[in-house]
Amino acid sequence: MPGPTASSLRPEIERDPARPRYHFCAPHGWMNDPNGTVFQAGYYHVFYQWNPYGDQWGTIHWGHARSRDLLHWEHLPAALVPSPELGEEHCFSGCLALRDEGPPLILYTAIGPQMDALSGAQQWAALGDEQLLSWRKHPRNPILAGSLHGGLNVLDWRDPFVFRDAGRVFLLLGGKLTPGDGGAAVVLLYEAQDASLEAWTYRGVLFRHPDLARTSVECANLFKAGDDWVLLLSTHTLVEYYVGDFDADVGRFHPRVSGLLDGSDQFYATNLLHDAQARTLCFGWLRGFAPGRGWNGCLSLPRVLSVEASGRLRQAPAPEVRQLRGPGRHASGLALGTYTLPDLDGAALDVEALFTGAAPAVFGLRLRPVGAAAAAVTLTVAPQEVRLNDKRVAYTRAAESAIRLLLDHSVVEVFVDSAVALTLVLPPSASACQVEVFSENAPASLLALDVWPMRSAAPPRPGE
Ligand code: FRU
Repeated sequence: MPGPTASSLRPEIERDPARPRYHFCAPHGWMNDPNGTVFQAGYYHVFYQWNPYGDQWGTIHWGHARSRDLLHWEHLPAALVPSPELGEEHCFSGCLALRDEGPPLILYTAIGPQMDALSGAQQWAALGDEQLLSWRKHPRNPILAGSLHGGLNVLDWRDPFVFRDAGRVFLLLGGKLTPGDGGAAVVLLYEAQDASLEAWTYRGVLFRHPDLARTSVECANLFKAGDDWVLLLSTHTLVEYYVGDFDADVGRFHPRVSGLLDGSDQFYATNLLHDAQARTLCFGWLRGFAPGRGWNGCLSLPRVLSVEASGRLRQAPAPEVRQLRGPGRHASGLALGTYTLPDLDGAALDVEALFTGAAPAVFGLRLRPVGAAAAAVTLTVAPQEVRLNDKRVAYTRAAESAIRLLLDHSVVEVFVDSAVALTLVLPPSASACQVEVFSENAPASLLALDVWPMRSAAPPRPGE
């Protein structure tokens, strides 16, 4: 099953000033969700929803890349290619399970003319070689079919996610119940019957979304952090998190704390990876790029997730990202006003700023294309809210606010106190940006500011 190869980089795409240089992008074409993210034999692997034939969603394959350092990614041949001879048109999202016995297993959602996404989806498997490089469809697909639910009719049933707890192996799938069954967007739980992970028992509804207006749950993820469990849900607009308890015997998740993993609808459809350092890394799909450029979509930076004592989720870009920093600038002890950093402009920057200021002061950062009257990016930390251009998220500011802002051409990721994350996809522009710090309404101080230019992690251009 050779499938389209990903090795042919196209110079016009690599040169596009809108294209991120240290966020993972497919070599060309459309990409959406990260799939099957896994650490194995010294490599981080990401698979992703990929249309190799165009820069719009369609003929969904699983693209594949691997990296030793989470920064430099080697493009590999597509892992899954739709099998029209088996009635398959798209290989939707899913996960990769390394089994105690037998070859590696991908579990994913198969969609086709007779397997429509709303009411006919099936969960299929593919078998891989030890290096995870070549994959063939399992001869006994489907691995899970809707009949598993007895009388329960699950719509938009998709995106298998495998996790382990105390020697048991579980699977999540998202969907939506029909009005007769209460109509909620739900996460369903299944348990493996044996180590093959090819036979599953339906255990019931793990979680019912409290808002009946939600279309469905996509890309449900669950992980353990200390004594807590964290459930991530993509419900078509934003990614929500719930911190709580997973009761494996009853098959229920009980939330205690909830919030937004990212306050922006341009960050979506997460997947998780547990690595050799026992970190839980999260990747999201960044969406909302300008069409017609031969590529569309990228992954977020890998984010390390953990739960703090208060029960709130913490997240920060993987420390590896700092390795891409060039020689930086440092400033400290500035009373604001507005202050523009001299001689440091770029299209790829990493900024760390520590502010202090009492209400009603608001403060933050602006990125202004050199020579432009208006800022392209404004990050504002208000006493009760963080805003990134038109994106906003409620947040009660502490005495000091630690900001991290990462600019990568048309992508901005922002973290405030490792508690709030906001993502922004900008319209294409070839300009480098100046960094401006500001405060309004009342005095505030900038305790420290560091700005680094970021090196590219993109593969070398053809001929280089
Ligand atoms: C989320 C999603 C998934 C689905 C995939 C299809 O973005 O809709 O639910 O499997 O994308 O590409």
